[in-house]
Amino acid sequence: MIILGIETSCDETSAAIIEAKPKSKYINLLSNVTSSSLLLHAKTGGIIPEIAARKQVEYIIPVIEKALSDANTDFNNVDNIAVTVGPGLIGSLLVGVETAKTLGYFLNKPIVPVNHLIGHIYSNFIDQPSVDRRLKAVDFPAIALIVSGGHTDLVLMKNHNDLKLLGGTRDDAAGEAFDKIGRLLGMSYPAGPTIEKRAQNGNPKRFNFPRPMIDSGDFEFSFSGLKTAALREVRTMKQFASPTGGLNNETICDFSASLQQAIIDVLIKKTLKAAQKYNAKSILLGGGVAANSKLREDLKSSIVNLKSSIKLFVPTKSLCTDNGGMIASAAFFNHKPISWKKITANPELYFD
Ligand code: KG4
Ligand code: ZN
Repeated sequence: MIILGIETSCDETSAAIIEAKPKSKYINLLSNVTSSSLLLHAKTGGIIPEIAARKQVEYIIPVIEKALSDANTDFNNVDNIAVTVGPGLIGSLLVGVETAKTLGYFLNKPIVPVNHLIGHIYSNFIDQPSVDRRLKAVDFPAIALIVSGGHTDLVLMKNHNDLKLLGGTRDDAAGEAFDKIGRLLGMSYPAGPTIEKRAQNGNPKRFNFPRPMIDSGDFEFSFSGLKTAALREVRTMKQFASPTGGLNNETICDFSASLQQAIIDVLIKKTLKAAQKYNAKSILLGGGVAANSKLREDLKSSIVNLKSSIKLFVPTKSLCTDNGGMIASAAFFNHKPISWKKITANPELYFD
């Protein structure tokens, strides 16, 4: 089966071609083409929805054409079209959804609607040639941690098509916390990767940031208190900084390392707690923040320290952020194709 995956929920325009056999445990990614309007948003501190959607209208057809040609195929060989229907920005979602519907109508192909958050989980089902074949298959039950710009969710996965939300963020998502706090330090959007880079040369113990809800006993998250604590710290430091109010490099590195560690500690503690409670055999990481090397390393070493046999799945970094491959992958494993007439975008879509 060949699936064309289309993803346009935020600022990215992405299309991918995947191939899999009916009982495959993971899929082959034949192409994955992503075009982003991120540079246009860097200075504004966040995505401007109208600009993102306008660029997506320009990019969508060339991106799909390139995905087909990179995979050495054409529309005739595509069995299904998969498209993100939500959650996301309405203008952006509509670009992908209307394109998929038009293709579905003209080519007479069924469409598989995909929840973007579930897509992030399914980046873990894309074949990674570097991983040992015996370790590749996900064993259930699994716990998925989705950490992106808009979401921080813990999900229990008893099997494909059997997902249950255990908890999510009550306010800011982990990626949002990185972005908003980074902005206080003068970093451009998205600040997550910049904070990670600065943190590599910083002391994570210099600033004692709170670990919100770390011992709350449930699987909910909250990062807005961390943002307030960070703001207070930045204001105090600026009072004692140079006459121009600038912070020195060492301070920014220490601040970044301390902030990053506070977020990671909460994410890991809750994920492991969920894994123990539900006897998980696998942990799956997904979403843009999953590209953070410290989070990846700390989660791996925490599992080793527990002497646990839980398998950890982490997508290659390029598959952590939004891409069409994860949407096509989710469509293959949750295969419910429907007519183009029944597909609608839903910006508020969450877990059932
Ligand atoms: O999943 P994603 O591409 O888009 C959404 O669905 O939101 O995630 C984007 C988020 C941004 O908040 C960005 O700052 C964060 O992922 N991010 C990172 C890193 N790379 C991206 N956060 C921390 N460390 C990173 N290396
Ligand atoms: Zn995303």
